[in-house]
Amino acid sequence: MATKATGSKKSLQLLLFQVALVGPVFCGNVLVWPTEGSHWLNVKMITKELIRRGHSVTVLASNASVFITPRDDAMEKFEVYNVPFEKDTVETLIEEIVALWLNNRPTALTFWQFYTELGKMFKNLHEINRLMCDAVLTNHELMAHLQGSGYDLLLTDPVTLCGDLVALKLSIPFMYSLRFSPASTVERHCGKMPAPPSYAPAALSELTDKMSFGERIKNILSYHLQDFVFQSYWGQWDTYYSKVLGQAMAGKEVAVLWLLAVLGYGSGGNVLVWPADNSHWLNMEYILKELVVRGHEVTVLMPSCFLIFDGTQSSPFQFEVVEVPITKKEMATMMEEAFYFLFYEERQLPFWQVAYKMTQMLHKIKNTTETICNEVLKNQALMQRLRASNFDVLLADPLTPSGELIAEKLGIPFVYTIRFSVGNTVERLCGTLPAPPSYVPATLSGLVDRMSFLERLKNIFSYTAQDFMYHYLTWGSWDQYYTDVLGKAAFTSKNYICCTYKSKYSELRG
Ligand SMILES: *[C@@H]1O[C@H](CO)[C@@H](O)[C@H](O)[C@H]1NC(C)=O
Ligand SMILES: *[C@@H]1O[C@H](CO)[C@@H](O)[C@H](O)[C@H]1NC(C)=O
Repeated sequence: MATKATGSKKSLQLLLFQVALVGPVFCGNVLVWPTEGSHWLNVKMITKELIRRGHSVTVLASNASVFITPRDDAMEKFEVYNVPFEKDTVETLIEEIVALWLNNRPTALTFWQFYTELGKMFKNLHEINRLMCDAVLTNHELMAHLQGSGYDLLLTDPVTLCGDLVALKLSIPFMYSLRFSPASTVERHCGKMPAPPSYAPAALSELTDKMSFGERIKNILSYHLQDFVFQSYWGQWDTYYSKVLGQAMAGKEVAVLWLLAVLGYGSGGNVLVWPADNSHWLNMEYILKELVVRGHEVTVLMPSCFLIFDGTQSSPFQFEVVEVPITKKEMATMMEEAFYFLFYEERQLPFWQVAYKMTQMLHKIKNTTETICNEVLKNQALMQRLRASNFDVLLADPLTPSGELIAEKLGIPFVYTIRFSVGNTVERLCGTLPAPPSYVPATLSGLVDRMSFLERLKNIFSYTAQDFMYHYLTWGSWDQYYTDVLGKAAFTSKNYICCTYKSKYSELRG
């Protein structure tokens, strides 16, 4: 009974976390671990919107904060803790860093001096940060008070460290919103953001996306020097994090897998997986293995026809096999045809034949996915068993639609991880990934990041054709199905999977 209550509380928290930024549906109780300077402006925007949508926001500020002045008439609440340093200390340091950057830009002759100076400033900044962290974590009265305030979530910009530690100590999920880090170190090392030094200029390097050869070299150098600064100062937090959490856990590591944050550290989560076949599975499997290593339980809802499934092999995951009226052989044939088409025929055949074949292929894939989904949804015994298993979250690759339908039916939140979609349609149209057609080649178009004028035209054409396919064939065709399952008109899969599901969500819940 007790477990059930905790389980449902946790899913409620997770759901809140999902809809917190989405619609005025539930009113959550959010704690903010703030930063200073422009980073605070960024988080402040989010807190304002949260307040506008009816959530309660409390800022945990030090009494030496420069940018945060607790006021009684403010929309947000404040929890102020005392720190053994003065406002001036922080203010002077921020001014010094900004002045160094604005007035002493590194040149070939001065970069060493610049980075030595910058290193010293970062050292002071991290020392101050550590004093803040100590002041909160060792203040038992404050921690007990925070614990008693029933926060659902902690929001933080990870450039001021320790928010995640406070959240872990309070056993609440946390969410990062990062403005930027110098040379995108945090984004690159923790967020695994791809940053080829010939294309992505290091933040604060003052380079642009058009770099000469010399500037590219400068960019590479910027990355490496900042990496050194990052390793030196963030590295020092590792022991701190281990000490606080009582385990060997690196500060850097904490920042890496936000999914784990959602699932809670230490308390093993119960994860249900809606898999995708073939290479998309490799991507999921990687994440799932890491989840198992960290003590989470992983159950994969595996269609009996999936080629990746081999029931005879031992696996770190549990499987709920969904028996479907499709054989593995049929599945293999369909995949082979699809690959043959995508990698070979598409480049040989005339346009109209490509369009015709593509339509046929997409139709077949849709039919297969729908058949599989039907087998799950109509299987009352299976659905009951899944419901009884109290899953905390469903993980899905949205390339196989309908995972979210199952999550919705089970009343649990879901998280997407996408490997890629053809022509990056899902990433661009749902994830609003920026993709200037002169720079970003459409996936599977066979183009690379250096395109001639004609290739750029081809890329634009690829995008347009794929967008058409996306709207009218692949995803558009799911709309009716989603409406049927969820029993509400105008509730479309495209809208669902895209972020626009905010208003629909409130309709559904409202
Ligand atoms: C913050 O509180 C500490 C301890 O009470 C005090 O020493 C310090 O002067 C205070 N700082 C500010 C800026 O009020
Ligand atoms: C898939 O195609 C088969 C054969 O064409 C058909 O019998 C079946 O009803 C289709 N299934 C769905 C879910 O559309």
